[in-house]
Amino acid sequence: MGGARPKATIQDGTQCWIVKPGLPTDATDLELLEHGTQQWGRAAGMRFAQTVHHPIAGARSAVRVLRFDRDGEKRIMAVSAATLLQAQFPAPDTSDAGRASYPRLAEELRRIGAPAEDCFELYDRMVFNAIVGNDDDHPRNHAVIYRHDERRWRLAPAFDVVPSADDTPTRLFMQVSTGRYDITRESLLADHRRFGLLMRSQAESRLAETVARIEAAFADVRTIFNGEQQKLMHARLIKASALLTS
Ligand SMILES: Nc1ncnc2c1ncn2[C@@H]1O[C@H](COP(=O)(O)OP(=O)(O)OP(=O)(O)O)[C@@H](O)[C@H]1O
Ligand SMILES: [Mg+2]
Repeated sequence: MGGARPKATIQDGTQCWIVKPGLPTDATDLELLEHGTQQWGRAAGMRFAQTVHHPIAGARSAVRVLRFDRDGEKRIMAVSAATLLQAQFPAPDTSDAGRASYPRLAEELRRIGAPAEDCFELYDRMVFNAIVGNDDDHPRNHAVIYRHDERRWRLAPAFDVVPSADDTPTRLFMQVSTGRYDITRESLLADHRRFGLLMRSQAESRLAETVARIEAAFADVRTIFNGEQQKLMHARLIKASALLTS
């Protein structure tokens, strides 16, 4: 598997998982943070990959993530957003900047025949990343899979959604609207049409409802996090919801 951190793949019965262990150099339990955040996204009604958390002695732990590119012995076709957007990661130079973009990804989803609901879900995931402070949302952390039962491509479940454990980010990695990365109400609304949210009022309602769902879901999942993570996530939630809804 790719990605910056160590990982292993395992099979348990018919299910295939990726196991991501913590590192002794981690300042916080990142695996617990990843698990809690994945549960948060699910509780808020989005399609997030299933995770299981495994405490290990000391402050370390491991997270297990269900693979979306396997169905028992069968492989499921999967393509990363980096491929779809023809965006290199890391970007080679500034000529590549702008390829990594949520509204462009929404347009690509439409072009390959994914349903409108996937573009709306992508919009909601962008809002979620903005609220929790996941600025590692690069194009290899989004993917599409081919659903044989539906005979079409679909946005894959969200994976590797991990809030920054340091300062609260003010920008996302991918563009949220043309030329803009900043986490503000205006930048998240500016390109609403490209997500298939045709009227500005429709986008404003979607944003308000998504923020409300994310806020409500925090109450269900907050005890998954450790004390320090709960405080950090609660503070981010309060700050971001004020910023995005007024
Ligand atoms: N649930 C999954 N099912 C299938 N493939 C996955 C899944 N989760 C991750 N992958 C693939 O494995 C790669 C690495 O996994 P992941 O992004 O979780 O690791 P990471 O080391 O935290 O990455 P990063 O470099 O983004 O910090 C992803 O880019 C993706 O291609
Ligand atoms: Mg990753």
